[in-house]
Amino acid sequence: MNKEKILIINTGGHTSQNLARKIREIGIYSEVVFKDITKEGVMEIDPFAIILVGDVNFNDLKSIDVALDKEILNLNIPILGIMDGYKTIIESLDDAAVFTKEMLLEDTFKIDDDILFKGVSLYEEAINKEAIVSDRNPSGFRSILNHEGKVAAIHSTDKNIYGISFFPSYDSNAKRTILKNFLFDISKGEKSWSMEKYAKKAVLDIKDKVKDKKVIVGLSGGVDSSVAAVLVHQAVKDNLTCIFVDHGLLRKDEGDFVEDVFTKRFSMNLIRVDAKDRFLGKLKGVTEPEEKRKVIGEEFIRVFEEEASKLGDVEYLVQGTIYSDVIESGSKNSDVIKSHHNVGGLPEDIDFKLLEPLKNLFKDEVRVLGEEIGIPKDLVYRQPFPGPGLGIRVLGEITEEKLYIVKEADHILREEIKLAGLDQSIWQYFAALPNIKSVGVTDGKRTYNHAIAIRAVHSVDGMTSNWARIPFDVLDKISSRIVHEVEGVNRVLYDITSKPPSTIEWE
Ligand code: XMP
Repeated sequence: MNKEKILIINTGGHTSQNLARKIREIGIYSEVVFKDITKEGVMEIDPFAIILVGDVNFNDLKSIDVALDKEILNLNIPILGIMDGYKTIIESLDDAAVFTKEMLLEDTFKIDDDILFKGVSLYEEAINKEAIVSDRNPSGFRSILNHEGKVAAIHSTDKNIYGISFFPSYDSNAKRTILKNFLFDISKGEKSWSMEKYAKKAVLDIKDKVKDKKVIVGLSGGVDSSVAAVLVHQAVKDNLTCIFVDHGLLRKDEGDFVEDVFTKRFSMNLIRVDAKDRFLGKLKGVTEPEEKRKVIGEEFIRVFEEEASKLGDVEYLVQGTIYSDVIESGSKNSDVIKSHHNVGGLPEDIDFKLLEPLKNLFKDEVRVLGEEIGIPKDLVYRQPFPGPGLGIRVLGEITEEKLYIVKEADHILREEIKLAGLDQSIWQYFAALPNIKSVGVTDGKRTYNHAIAIRAVHSVDGMTSNWARIPFDVLDKISSRIVHEVEGVNRVLYDITSKPPSTIEWE
């Protein structure tokens, strides 16, 4: 058995992703799969332990969308069920168990000092947390935590299965937590995951897969495609050609920056294609956000194909797809939020085999990998930029005039954020054009012009975000510069919503 990998079975929602990241931070490689995985699927992955985890739908405690393959519970691999994962284990073994939502109170007590709780404080781990407790144990299990006569945690020595009805502490610095007890004391996991190892393995895997075939990569100037490109370059050297499609939807001066970095700093083969007119032509009259993404994604591939055909036999296309793209693009257990350019937006008749070396990494891990493979900090810690570019920051139909406005406003925003010393502390900030015109007054004359929205958020991986509290005097300067310096704008708005319920981009 492979002591290096833990399998996380997601029973619903996004919590499994946070947990996976935390476990990697602790030093163990974690992989997330969905609840519909079979026993055979688990055996193929060959993990040393399994965690079943998911968010509970408190409004509908009875619903079971996909049943768990019960055979997974008989594999004799240590298993920990957390929250909905706890509920899933009990339901799989006893469909008559009744669950209730409770707040775990101070008189919740350990029935014995099970190894799962060794050295941990219930106060930090459980008390005052929401839980989904059961009215009874499945047979062969004993209750190890009691909340007002109900079962808040279970253990079966025979099956080597544990379950807790609440989310434990994910504090990776704490000496002992329920999670660490499970990973190390119970499952005998070994800390062996590091980005250095991951990078070395990724380069070898790419070499092995690609051999001497030709590869192309589409650079967008974003962090993900840049890291993917440099990683693949380390593996295949000159067999990689970067195709940088300048679709006219890039930030001001972005094109020259990207060209410079890859040709001068990394001496990589790069073809810059000026395809602005082509993209704007295809986008004419397109207003629906998903449609725009699809049009841009498709055109991107077409331009690639044309350029690639000039290069001869290109077999692989590198994509900077990261974990959150994969998850948000939909799976059996999560709805499609947006079809990301890198995933859902790809046309079906694509001519290349895909190489997606970042597919298992979270955004923050991509940056660590970037540094590991020698990409300078100023590129690695750039804010993320979406593949469809300003196409999804100009709402409604995209026109040259609107693109000009959003580029200039965005440029001013970036200058001022940098001047205020906030550029490294805000995760992502940009201007969007909401496609609203409103009445204003300039030099005593009525204007009827566009509004610009400022978006600035704190986030770790783009999956959730909190709006950034930019100081008022900085906002004031940004606003005043935009309305004075950008023709066609007479109003500046500040977006103060977090994700969820909004998304970071406006489309
Ligand atoms: P949303 O708008 O989904 O964005 O909250 C989350 C993060 O993803 C970026 N984003 C994209 N990145 N292709 C990308 O490579 C895309 O199609 C895309 N759409 C959104 C967004 O900028 C934010 O950082």
